Amino acid sequence: MSEAENRLLYISQADIKKINLSMRDIIDQLEVAFSEKAEGRVEMPPKPGIHPGDADNFIHAMPAYIPAMKSAGVKWVSGFPHNQERGLPYISGLLILNDSETGLPISVMDCVWITAKRTGAATAIAAKRLARPESSIVGILGCGVQGRSNIEALSVDFPLKKVMAYDIDNKVTAKYASEIEAKFGLEVTPVDKPKDAVSGCDIVVTAGPILKKPHATIQAGWIDAGIFASLVDFDSYWHPDALKESSKFCTDDIPQLQHYQEMGYFQDIPPIYADLCELVAGHKPGRETSEECTITCNLGLAMNDMAVAPLIYQRAIEKGIGTWLPL
Ligand SMILES: NC(=O)c1ccc[n+]([C@@H]2O[C@H](COP(=O)([O-])OP(=O)(O)OC[C@H]3O[C@@H](n4cnc5c(N)ncnc54)[C@H](O)[C@@H]3O)[C@@H](O)[C@H]2O)c1
Repeated sequence: MSEAENRLLYISQADIKKINLSMRDIIDQLEVAFSEKAEGRVEMPPKPGIHPGDADNFIHAMPAYIPAMKSAGVKWVSGFPHNQERGLPYISGLLILNDSETGLPISVMDCVWITAKRTGAATAIAAKRLARPESSIVGILGCGVQGRSNIEALSVDFPLKKVMAYDIDNKVTAKYASEIEAKFGLEVTPVDKPKDAVSGCDIVVTAGPILKKPHATIQAGWIDAGIFASLVDFDSYWHPDALKESSKFCTDDIPQLQHYQEMGYFQDIPPIYADLCELVAGHKPGRETSEECTITCNLGLAMNDMAVAPLIYQRAIEKGIGTWLPL
């Protein structure tokens, strides 16, 4: 092996923030990945996981190969709901990018930034097909990392004006409100009751902890006609009767959702109308009337990480960012 092949680029979280890929670029890259998947040109087995300690803790292995992007690799990502009490992030992990021709690892990078941004981007891609284009009021339940990145992504293609923000910790909501107002110029109303971040909103994003047994806070009768909801935290926030008020219940990958059902998640959800590939490729229509209620429950795909990782790697090389390490 030559010296150039005998090394990989380590890209830290701080490096990735410095590269600062735009949300527009991330959304566009994911649109290509979903189109490729619609044509059967992505390899992505359902993610295996381990669950150290508490049953709601997870560490997942998420491999994917996207030939059109010459992208192959795996994300090793943890979600520990009690980390907040320890002052630690809920989501953490690493991503390995391989050379798709030789299989050699070419980069190891932090995956926190990518996970945050690509999840918001997947909401935006679903919203483009499932939300009313004039949607301007967004309800956010769970004002953490996802509460931020989902607003960032939705603001790319929607004329957002107002955010109704709810978090179980009202200090978190207050900080979120001032940050989002300053960053995106939106009016943010912190609310004390979850219902106030649902009723009256055009788009609702739930982003609290993922629980096998849903806390099912959102009740039937809370959602208005014409709403679009993105369930970043699985069905944890929704009562089954509230979910059944949607006319189109979608997900990002049906086999993966079925895999989770076998593990005990999603025990009472409506029939699945479509996955995001079918919507992006136009194989099934998205929203057809301004009255229908639509939902996507995106589980988070390895493909999305592997669509973004090569862009980060290329920009890091171009800008001389990152640390070369010997293999
Ligand atoms: N589907 C995906 O692709 C994907 C990707 C990343 C994260 N997630 C999930 O998204 C969720 C949020 O992740 P994050 O990184 O933003 O976590 P985070 O810790 O940054 O934020 C979670 C926030 O939810 C709040 N919260 C807890 N219980 C709540 C409740 N009942 N109502 C309202 N707020 C509540 C917490 O106070 C915290 O502010 C997690 O469940 C995570 O596993 C999903």
